[in-house]
Amino acid sequence: MHAIQIDNPATLNSLRLVDMPDAPRPGPGEIQVRLRASSLNYHDYAVVTGAIPAQGGRIPLSDGAGEIMALGEGVTQFAIGDLVVSTFFPDWLDGGPQDGGFTNVPGDGIDGYAREIVTVPAHWFTHAPRGYDAMEAATLTCAGLTAWRALVVEGGIKAGEYVLVQGTGGVSIFALQFAKAMGARVIATSSSDAKLERLRTMGADHLINYRADAKWGSTAKKLTDGRGVDHVVEIGGAGTLPQSLSAIRMGGHISMIGVLTGVQGPVPTALVMGRQARVIGVTVGSRRHQIDMIAAIDATGIRPVVEERFPLAELSSAFRHQESGRHFGKIGIEI
Ligand SMILES: NC(=O)c1ccc[n+]([C@@H]2O[C@H](COP(=O)([O-])OP(=O)(O)OC[C@H]3O[C@@H](n4cnc5c(N)ncnc54)[C@H](OP(=O)(O)O)[C@@H]3O)[C@@H](O)[C@H]2O)c1
Repeated sequence: MHAIQIDNPATLNSLRLVDMPDAPRPGPGEIQVRLRASSLNYHDYAVVTGAIPAQGGRIPLSDGAGEIMALGEGVTQFAIGDLVVSTFFPDWLDGGPQDGGFTNVPGDGIDGYAREIVTVPAHWFTHAPRGYDAMEAATLTCAGLTAWRALVVEGGIKAGEYVLVQGTGGVSIFALQFAKAMGARVIATSSSDAKLERLRTMGADHLINYRADAKWGSTAKKLTDGRGVDHVVEIGGAGTLPQSLSAIRMGGHISMIGVLTGVQGPVPTALVMGRQARVIGVTVGSRRHQIDMIAAIDATGIRPVVEERFPLAELSSAFRHQESGRHFGKIGIEI
């Protein structure tokens, strides 16, 4: 079977397509999956460019979806042919966050899904939403679940609340979709007026160009009649948190998700205190969260935005496209 491997040190130029032995027949409790699709996340980009050090020869990509080819003894939850999607933390099944960091995360601490066939424990995958194809399903593992966890699990979002989403990448577009499906109002930002128009067609209620308006947090607050937003899906990190704190209402919630502006910086601690904000660190979620999200997708009919698709052999071109920042939503990989 074909797979992509990274080099040590990893660079986009050194991604190589290799021929590997086929995955073994599944043993007891295992499934064999013919992967059909993956999708790119910023985390994957960090691995393939060496920003997150990974072992040479590592197979990248945390997201994978495809159909079940074979079942090991004792596996009753899946049938051959079922469309399934991978989980980000394969052994975080339920309950609160677990120790261990990224040591067991596919495409980082262990081999990921830039390959054709895997044989893994059955609990590493869940069913895909009804009516989804593999490409749509492959967007959920990281970006979809992170947005879901931020708004629903940590935020306890309610109809009528205001949600602030930043930019038009994978996590933020899912956050917009989940927020609208839950009856919330969305204030969305982007660096591009053309992308803002597209956000409007997806249901965003208010739009702000964060390049043109450096005080976009205060602008967002004004748009709520001065009360402040209930939730911020914070993907910028150090450089955007001060504006997110300007936007938040008293007692509002900020899920700290991304590091697009850097991993550290000054924190306006008085504002965190004064607004009595709940600032919560989020790293994707558990298998239970994924199952709950998929039930919600089945009920609401949300479809991921996957505009550009690249074949597995052109993975480096796909990452270059991500690097350019021209994308809107998810970038898909066909396997
Ligand atoms: N903690 C977690 O569990 C978790 C999970 C997934 C992702 N993440 C993190 O979340 C971040 C986003 O990930 P992603 O996969 O959604 O990335 P992505 O698809 O590559 O999104 C990048 C987009 O973010 C927007 N952006 C960049 N700088 C911005 C800024 N200063 N202010 C507002 N928007 C900005 C841009 O949108 P415009 O072009 O519209 O300006 C850009 O297109 C990354 O840091 C990633 O590591 C964390």
